[in-house]
Amino acid sequence: MVLSRNDILRALELVKLPASGQSLAASGRIGDVLIDDGKVIFAIGIDATEAAAMEPVRKAAESAVSGLPGVRQVLVGLTADKAPSASASAATQARRQAQAGPGGAVPKAAGVPGVKQIIAVASGKGGVGKSTTTANLAVALATLGLKVGVLDADIYGPSVPKIFGISGKPRLVSGRTLAPMEAYGLKIMSIGFLIDEETPMIWRGPMVISAITQMLREVAWGELDVLVVDMPPGTGDAQLTMAQQTPLAGAVIVSTPQDLALLDARRGVAMFRKVEVPILGIVENMSYFVCPECGHRSDIFAHGGARHEAERQGVPFLGEIPLAMPIRETSDGGRPIVASDPDSAHAKAYLAIARQVRDGLSGPVRAAPRIVIE
Ligand SMILES: Nc1ncnc2c1ncn2[C@@H]1O[C@H](COP(=O)(O)OP(=O)(O)OP(=O)(O)O)[C@@H](O)[C@H]1O
Ligand SMILES: [Mg+2]
Repeated sequence: MVLSRNDILRALELVKLPASGQSLAASGRIGDVLIDDGKVIFAIGIDATEAAAMEPVRKAAESAVSGLPGVRQVLVGLTADKAPSASASAATQARRQAQAGPGGAVPKAAGVPGVKQIIAVASGKGGVGKSTTTANLAVALATLGLKVGVLDADIYGPSVPKIFGISGKPRLVSGRTLAPMEAYGLKIMSIGFLIDEETPMIWRGPMVISAITQMLREVAWGELDVLVVDMPPGTGDAQLTMAQQTPLAGAVIVSTPQDLALLDARRGVAMFRKVEVPILGIVENMSYFVCPECGHRSDIFAHGGARHEAERQGVPFLGEIPLAMPIRETSDGGRPIVASDPDSAHAKAYLAIARQVRDGLSGPVRAAPRIVIE
């Protein structure tokens, strides 16, 4: 039997929206439906503020479609294409007021059993060293005695397997639950294990939301003190929805000192604030250059910009990591420097950042905003 979009919509007639009771099929929220050899992939359009409320609908849609004859695999994502509407912002406002009032509770994404805290490593733009920072921060947190996991959620370029030198696929432990891979004492899962490199980018956005949920909840993480998530770069809707759907204890923003990267870092801070995730601080990567020949340090890119930006934003500045060949070589070679050369100055810089992150997680994480008069 050849499946068509109409078959899928017919199955979705049985799924009702919580607020209106309208059927999902009739709601106009289903965009293109990709059907390929028994695999069905589509996204449900939502308002960014509805993510938590629509998660049961996403699940119901997945199971309704899985029941159709000829369907082997279903991936349904939630995508927020639009900025939150005025009424939704009013709802957010009401939530904030409820939070301020006695006994008021803010609905948050549910936690992951066994995982004490989840932190995101994010950047406003790509290529600033987010994955390198994620990997070294994770090893450094483990060096401090914490049980650490790494979740590579970067749909555009999952690079955690390469940074940790991991090949192969995770094995199923039971039902749909996957065992994480392990390296350097860390538990590691990557979206690279779950989606093919050939999957067109347009599909990765909607898929990522379900893939993230799956990686968070259907992986045998065991007991973890911290799970470090390498987020996709940028501040678009996919990132926003992810920030909202992952129960984050805080976010680390990575930036380079260049003006444009700093502007993007500012957007990153704003995005996490919007979804009420505390900012643990900003890391300045490729902060200055250390000559591999003579060890001389030069500030090739107006170093210090991220520190200044952190002050402006009223968030902690976590430290600076130089542009250094050993960092690149170890990162690209599958042996993060904190693991392969733990006594090096570079490893110590990451350890200092990890200590601040750990302390930020246990203590007050939000510095008071500083008023800057210009
Ligand atoms: N401090 C550093 N010194 C030298 N090279 C670095 C440093 N940080 C990162 N790199 C190198 O820069 C490149 C990009 O780094 P990385 O992959 O960590 O960035 P990213 O922000 O995760 O990129 P993407 O947006 O593609 O995911 C890699 O080759 C990495 O080894
Ligand atoms: Mg990366």
